[in-house]
Amino acid sequence: MPEAPPDEGPALHVEDVDVVYGRALSALRSVSLTVPHGGVVTLLGANGAGKTTLLRAVSGTLRLHRGAITAGRIRYGGTVLDGRDPVAAVRAGVVQVPEGRRVFAGLTVDENLRSGGLGLGRRAPAQVREARERVFSLFPRLAERTHQAAGLLSGGEQQMLAIGRALMAAPRLLLLDEPSLGLAPQMVYRIAEVVREINAQGTAVLLVEQNAGMALSLADHAHVLEVGEVRLAGPADELARTDAVRRLYLGEETGPETSSGTGRGAA
Ligand SMILES: Nc1ncnc2c1ncn2[C@@H]1O[C@H](COP(=O)(O)OP(=O)(O)OP(=O)(O)O)[C@@H](O)[C@H]1O
Ligand SMILES: [Mg+2]
Repeated sequence: MPEAPPDEGPALHVEDVDVVYGRALSALRSVSLTVPHGGVVTLLGANGAGKTTLLRAVSGTLRLHRGAITAGRIRYGGTVLDGRDPVAAVRAGVVQVPEGRRVFAGLTVDENLRSGGLGLGRRAPAQVREARERVFSLFPRLAERTHQAAGLLSGGEQQMLAIGRALMAAPRLLLLDEPSLGLAPQMVYRIAEVVREINAQGTAVLLVEQNAGMALSLADHAHVLEVGEVRLAGPADELARTDAVRRLYLGEETGPETSSGTGRGAA
């Protein structure tokens, strides 16, 4: 597959963003990150750190959860993403795969796929066919089950369908929220391969994960969120070597006197 040069095409810029839910609950404080065109960036962090919130802010679904961006700015190429307009995000090429592999259980695989990219309005049949073929080449198992109800698929297959549905919108930036959650190791490995393949085809990826090992192996750049703030940020391979990440996110033992750190101070 042809690889686009890294700085040719739109990049995502999250600049000093604050997010509040309801009237008061501060979920993100002064968060900044960049996803270059064609890059893979991962966002790590414990439960409740604000990972999903950041994806919602980018994909325009924040308002559906009574959240709002109260400071800072998000840009994707020439488009300002304000957290309130999912259709604008999809039209700009930004598509989110929600957490918990939410597929329409009562609809078939095919119907689920057709629901992807609805926000784009009428598209040429050839474009839709091409997107479908891309999905089936990535996920041959879905091609064998087009008429099966999505609710009867295995957990891993449902995750593939959720990703496939997002790909039907031909995104240039894919937002993935914990795709490995609850899957057996072999399926986690398969999902990682798929992310690599999607990226090799030219789609940038912002990957939210608690599986730090998988995420750091895929990403160029990583950020660690802690209660709404970026604690550590840097090249993924460097971050994987810091004590804080090894201990807290990779589950490794680290000696007390070997502390070192990259980015903005260890946890
Ligand atoms: N709709 C909402 N209304 C109010 N508070 C919310 C809402 N959604 C999330 N929060 C709060 O915002 C904070 C960040 O939540 P978020 O879902 O972004 O975390 P997360 O890092 O994705 O966690 P997890 O790993 O458990 O998915 C948490 O304190 C959470 O309780
Ligand atoms: Mg989450």
